[in-house]
Amino acid sequence: MKSQGILLAGGLGTRLGPLTKSVNKHFLPIFDKPMIFYSISTMLLAGVKSLTLITNAEHVESFRNLLGDGSQWGIEINFAIQNSPEGIPQAFSIAEPYLEENTHIILGLGDNILYGLGTGRSLSANVIPEKASIYCFSVSNPTDFGVVEINTRGMIMSLEEKPSLPKSNLAITGFYSFPYDAIEESKKLVKSARGEFEIIDLLKVYESQERLHANVLPRGTAWLDAGSQEGLLESSEFVHALQKRQGLLVGSPDEAAWQIGNIDSEQLARNATKYGKSEYRTALLALIEGAN
Ligand code: DAU
Repeated sequence: MKSQGILLAGGLGTRLGPLTKSVNKHFLPIFDKPMIFYSISTMLLAGVKSLTLITNAEHVESFRNLLGDGSQWGIEINFAIQNSPEGIPQAFSIAEPYLEENTHIILGLGDNILYGLGTGRSLSANVIPEKASIYCFSVSNPTDFGVVEINTRGMIMSLEEKPSLPKSNLAITGFYSFPYDAIEESKKLVKSARGEFEIIDLLKVYESQERLHANVLPRGTAWLDAGSQEGLLESSEFVHALQKRQGLLVGSPDEAAWQIGNIDSEQLARNATKYGKSEYRTALLALIEGAN
């Protein structure tokens, strides 16, 4: 089965103004790489071979310039436009022309960073045919996120979007997997009071059909939402600390593609030369050196 993904990189980025007045949020730096590199790495590690990136009309060319057609990472990237940011579930109908029928879909939010051994792979390894899956992470500020309440037997008790009185501290991260019928289910949703189609409403549909599975990300995993001022800084600090201490790259699609065998060392070297005189380029070349 061909693994396919959708990455949302639109929205207005209003929480990051004035940074996002003329720049799409997903190009902002997370230490040494553009934000979008991190979620693309996760998609690669999940085994996605065909990726549809959705963004606003005014930024699509910049994304094309940065990401190309994906062949440098051994995947295919298609670009699709969201005319106005009316909610995450719109991703399914916008990406529909690029999606292969009856195949599971991994949906990612371009401002989310997921890090930890095997976490990318687990997005596809945990796919249950006919079911949707969410990945949850224990946080100290659940009011900022979608929140899931799970009982001791792992059953989902409630799902709420940014509740003022959260029933648990389990945030729903921005990586999901959905059966192909999410396209049709998303078309039936109605807008919420804030005028958006809500991902939590789509999850509730699957929950009501007993087709929603919640995975709690293990300790040792890191999840960051870089879409807020605090999150942006924290993400950079996290990546900086880890890369400095371990001498490894975090969130590199070039490395991810090479690690999973999508590309060989020659292609990785070609990719590296495109990154000028940067330390990122040096780190990629060191990977090849280390493997020889
Ligand atoms: O980060 C995880 C959280 O993401 C979840 O816990 C929430 O349940 C979910 O609703 C979402 O909340 P946010 O408030 O963080 O969503 P935000 O509006 O920031 O959008 C998330 C990403 O999706 C961001 O990269 C922009 C993109 N986006 C969003 C919307 C609403 C689009 O491309 N188009 C859209 O219409």
